[in-house]
This record gives sequence, structure tokens and C-alpha cells, in this order.
Amino acid sequence: MTEPHFLIATRTSYDAVATAYAERFAGVHDTQPLALAMLDAFATLVRTAGGGPVVEVGSGPGEVTARLHAQGLDVHGIDLSSAMVALARRDHPQVRFEEGSMTALDLGDEALVGLVAWYSLIHIAPEAVPATLAEFHRVLAPGGLLLLAFQVGDEPLSFTEAFGHAVSLDFHRLRPERIERLLRDAGFTVQARMEREAGDGESTPQAYVLARKER
Ligand SMILES: C[S@@+](CC[C@H](N)C(=O)[O-])C[C@H]1O[C@@H](n2cnc3c(N)ncnc32)[C@H](O)[C@@H]1O
Repeated sequence: MTEPHFLIATRTSYDAVATAYAERFAGVHDTQPLALAMLDAFATLVRTAGGGPVVEVGSGPGEVTARLHAQGLDVHGIDLSSAMVALARRDHPQVRFEEGSMTALDLGDEALVGLVAWYSLIHIAPEAVPATLAEFHRVLAPGGLLLLAFQVGDEPLSFTEAFGHAVSLDFHRLRPERIERLLRDAGFTVQARMEREAGDGESTPQAYVLARKER
């Protein structure tokens, strides 16, 4: 099957900016305690349910995957960009990172107990989001947990230049109500949501949605 244009453009763009992106955003999560509260709650819920395989899709430089790993989760990262995967492997050698797309995961049905898409579903073209949520549903076991993080809004942000490189990168801001409706349509029950105001250097509010695959 031919790969959709948005995947090719996103991969090429992140390959070009991976090193600069990783340097610019190194440690940024440590400055976001509300976001980390959701991430850490996800880790606690997975652990107390007995653990099992977890994946972060769109793992980028790997900080989020590494934080989940440090909390005792059996987690690995998957990213579209080979340059991002190489950086993540270099900086977090204790964690496994693989190349792949969240739109077609190389994982069996019901293989995971948890899946995190931390600021990565934002790169999926809107018409492909329902199928991507269906893919998350396929790879999660019944009762499995899904955590999404994204910028809140209606208009996409499109970049043709980033860190001095020519890119073609769309950031689709999302509405939590719409995502929750799509999650329900895909067979998830929403367990918790948090929306926080924009912090320093951010131009929109940020949302975090935790959902569970129905049993
Ligand atoms: C904004 S970065 C977030 C990185 C990381 N989750 C974090 O918060 O530090 C988005 C990442 O998602 C990856 N990505 C975009 N589309 C993807 C897809 N279809 N499948 C897997 N990864 C994807 C990009 O290559 C990039 O590394």
C-alpha cells in the first residue's frame, strides 16, 4: 500500500530536525508537573494492574519512554523518524526504541497493557485519526490503558521551516471533546481528562486524556 503523504512529510521533517529538536526540548517535561502527574498516574495504574508490555508511539528523543521505564514499566518506544530513534537509543541505552508508524503497528492483537501517544497523535492527518485510534484499540488487551497528550485548538499549525531546515510539518491541535467522542466510537471508555492553561513558551492550552479499552 502507498504510504500517505503526511507520513512521508512528517518523517522527512523530523529526520532533518531531530538533533536540534532534542537539544531544544531536553528536560522540558521536568518543567511540567501537571503533565507529569498524568504520566505518572498512568504508570501507577499499569503497575498496580500487574504490569505488562507498554509502548510510547512517537517517542521522539525518548525522555517520556525513559521516565516510564525508570518507573518499572516494561516499555519501549516507536517512532516514525530513524534519526529520532537513533538519538533515543544513544541517550537512553537502557530502553528499546524501534522505527515504525502508529498507523500500522508491528504488534499483535491485544499485545499491550498500555499505550502512550505523547504529543504525537497531533501529526496524524485528521481523516486518519479514527483509523489510528482503531489501531491502538487492536493492539491493546481488554482493560488496557491509553494516554494521549496534545495541544488544544482548532487550527493546525504548519511549518515550512524549523531550526534552519526546510520542513513540511503539521501540528493538528485537537479538541478534547472531539477526541473523547472518537475514543468512545473506537471502543474506549474515558477515565480521566486534564486541561491546563498554556505555560511559558506554549501558545495553546494542553490536554491529557486517559482512556481504557472496554473489557
Ligand atoms: C512532538 S514530537 C514528541 C516526542 C515525544 N513524545 C516527547 O513528547 O518528547 C512528535 C514525535 O512523533 C513522531 N511521529 C509523528 N508521526 C508518527 C507516526 N505516525 N508514528 C510514529 N511516530 C510518529 C515524530 O517523528 C516525533 O518524534
